[in-house]
Formats: sequence, structure tokens, C-alpha cells
Amino acid sequence: MAAAVEPEPPGPSQDPRWRDDPIPGAPLESPPSTPDSLGSAARQSPLETGAPPGPGERIGCDRPGHGSATSPLPAASLADPGGPDPLERRLEQLRHQLPAGTRLLAVSKGQPAALIRRAAALGQRSFAESRLQEAQAKQEALADLPGLDWHFIGRLQANKARAVLRRFATIHSVDSLALAERLARIAAEEDLSPAVFLQVKLRPDPAKAGFSPDDLRQAWPHLRTLAPLRPLGLMTIAPLGLGPGERPALFAACAALAQELGLAELSMGMSEDWREAAAAGSTWVRLGSALFGARSTPG
Ligand SMILES: Cc1ncc(COP(=O)(O)O)c(C=O)c1O
Repeated sequence: MAAAVEPEPPGPSQDPRWRDDPIPGAPLESPPSTPDSLGSAARQSPLETGAPPGPGERIGCDRPGHGSATSPLPAASLADPGGPDPLERRLEQLRHQLPAGTRLLAVSKGQPAALIRRAAALGQRSFAESRLQEAQAKQEALADLPGLDWHFIGRLQANKARAVLRRFATIHSVDSLALAERLARIAAEEDLSPAVFLQVKLRPDPAKAGFSPDDLRQAWPHLRTLAPLRPLGLMTIAPLGLGPGERPALFAACAALAQELGLAELSMGMSEDWREAAAAGSTWVRLGSALFGARSTPG
């Protein structure tokens, strides 16, 4: 399906994590990664440094009925030629470590379609992308796989709203009332009812997108009426400069704001901080490098 790009000025420049630029010359497909080809990235994976799960902890897998294992895998060296596939091992570890109620959103941006295919074969269904063009190519390459659940997590330029709505059932990056109104209008035209997360900026930062808590409180009475959008919860990104000691308070503030607005879901936590986010009640942790290793394309 061709991208439906509508004439709208692009949004303000953002954190590099939010770029939606096509990556010149970047291959979107590559041969399937072998355990060896993932090895160096796997050695850096923050997951590898994690503590084992506590007794009785449930797996936060997004595959129904896959949440009953309770013991961690034996620590296998990545150099061990007989050891399990690093992707499989990381998925298993995450499924053991994520608390009940916290689901894993596999951030596949910057990763080849072949790796998504392998994760899907291991039971992962929910994947997140942040660049429309890259996502389109991968979705087309994976069109034979049933039941993939695509989430959009990138900065959403207004002129790409229609194409994103057509390709993603959930949008985590609704960062302004104007964008929400536009999404609602186009979703109605397209007969879609997308799940959305409202992105909140809990520390002032002119370079970052998102509602301030006060702006969100003010906009909420209108936002909540914007059918057919289905606001599920709040999404936040811990600022890069924030120390690990400050992150629990940030995530707790996001959880408190969601509760105040009556929103049940929280999209919080990335590879470096998912433990704190999960402890604060995140219902979706968005993990890229902790799961797949380093991205093969930057941004
Ligand atoms: C909004 C968002 N969430 C999650 C991620 C995943 O980050 P990480 O690879 O650190 O897990 C990214 C990556 O850029 C992102 O932009």
C-alpha cells in the first residue's frame, strides 16, 4: 500500500530518537542474524546485567497463555557455541523478569525484517516502529505472517497521519491536541478506531515533544471525546540526562497522572530503564537494544 502523505508542515526538530527520516542507503532487509552475528551487541545488552526474577514472577509476554514459567534460564555464555540463540535467550529472560501486567513491545526500528520474523517465530507479536517508510518496507516483507500487532512510537508528522493510521493499530506518540484532532478526523474517514497513548513530557524540554501535565489536564476533557480514537494511557520517555536515581519519581509521576485522568495503561521504559518503569506500573515496556542488540541503522 502506498504511503498516504498529506501536505502539512513537518513538526519541530526533535530528539534523534524521534527521527522519521528515511535512512539513505540503509538496507531494510538483511540475511537472518545468527547467534554469532548478534553476539557483540548481545554482550552489551542491558538485559544481560539484570537480576533474576523473584519467586512467582510472571512473564510479561504478549502471547496469551505464555506467562507461566517461573525460573530463570541458566546463564549461558554468548561465546558458548552450544548455547541458545541470543534473541531467544533474551526473550525468555524478559518473559521471566517482566512483572505480571507488563507487556513487551519489541522495538524493531533499525532492525531487519528477518529479525522480526525470528522474534515472531519465538512468540513475540507486538512490534514498534518509528519511521513510516522503514516500517512499510518491513510490513510488506512480513505480510505472510498472521497476527502481528504494530505500534507506532515515533514523532508523527501531521502529513503522515493517514498512512500511519492505516498501518498501525496503536499509536504511542500523540503529543498535541492538534495531532489528536487530526488523527480522529482521518480515523473516522478511514473507519478505524486506533488505540492511542498521549505522550507526556514530565520535565520541561523545548526540544522534546509531549503534553506538559498541565496542558494535558486542560486538554483532557476534549481529548476524551475525540471518537473514534481510543485513548488507552500515557506514554513517556525519561530524559537522556536523568540519573537512574531520578527515574522512579518520573515514572511514578506519569502513573499518578494516568490515574488522575482515569487511564489504565502506561507506555514507559526502554532498555536502560525498563526495570524502574515496570516497578512503577508500566503496562508496556518498549525495548529495542535489550532485546535485539544494537540497531543496524542509527537514530
Ligand atoms: C520512543 C522509543 N521507545 C523505545 C525505544 C527503544 O529504545 P532502546 O533500544 O533503548 O530500548 C526507542 C528507540 O529509539 C524509542 O524511540
